[in-house]
Amino acid sequence: MPSVLITGANRGLGLEFARQYAADGWRVIATCRVPQRAHALQALKGDIEHHALDVTDNMSIGTLITALGHAPVDLLLLNAGVHLQKDCTLDELDGERWLRELEVNVIAPLMLARRLADNITRSDLRRIVAISSGSGSISNMKSGGNYAYRTGKAALNAAMKILAADLAPRGITVVPIGPGHTRTDMGGVDAPHTAEDSVARVRGVIARLTFKDSGTFLSRDGAPLPW
Ligand SMILES: NC(=O)c1ccc[n+]([C@@H]2O[C@H](COP(=O)([O-])OP(=O)(O)OC[C@H]3O[C@@H](n4cnc5c(N)ncnc54)[C@H](OP(=O)(O)O)[C@@H]3O)[C@@H](O)[C@H]2O)c1
Repeated sequence: MPSVLITGANRGLGLEFARQYAADGWRVIATCRVPQRAHALQALKGDIEHHALDVTDNMSIGTLITALGHAPVDLLLLNAGVHLQKDCTLDELDGERWLRELEVNVIAPLMLARRLADNITRSDLRRIVAISSGSGSISNMKSGGNYAYRTGKAALNAAMKILAADLAPRGITVVPIGPGHTRTDMGGVDAPHTAEDSVARVRGVIARLTFKDSGTFLSRDGAPLPW
């Protein structure tokens, strides 16, 4: 069975990705900051291994890479993310927190993908999927506010499009996908979609990906989203 490496697998969408892929028989390499405290993740059944990973910590990434060795990774799911300044206005925007958000949401996924590129190249599927957001669609930025999250997801999309070009010679498909507004700690209780539904849909899109999709930005239903 294929393998999937998931960042931020201890809660929210990441936990649900781990649950669904494990239930389907995939080998799940579940990563999160503190596996010992990830009780919901630890309780999942299936072929799941747990690793500590803070996506912004080079040493933590190095330890993971060493533990993986030459193991192939069919699908890298860049899921970990933060939204530190929800609904913040121009006046409320804090530069330091904005930088921290960009570090987690933009720089870390790209750096991790780069470090795992050899493992992905050794696999059959060769896919990198970044969990992005329609909030990062520049064409749709018609209202004000929420600068940090929106610029972060726009930059993540750009990074993934450039990465798609860099990794094309290795046959790796790279795609950012927006899961839709989903009920998690980040999405809030009023979000219209459940994690179970959003993850099932995104998994459906991932299953249908072909190499020609690389460098596109897709919705939870597989339709192209405007950059
Ligand atoms: N929910 C939505 O409506 C929605 C919509 C569009 C896109 N997304 C995207 O979907 C992804 C998952 O979001 P979610 O809704 O599941 O959010 P969530 O419930 O807040 O979970 C966020 C996850 O990211 C992890 N994380 C944060 N910083 C990390 C770091 N430095 N290293 C490793 N892991 C880190 C968290 O780990 P800790 O528990 O250790 O903090 C947690 O596992 C994010 O990229 C988000 O932007 C969500």
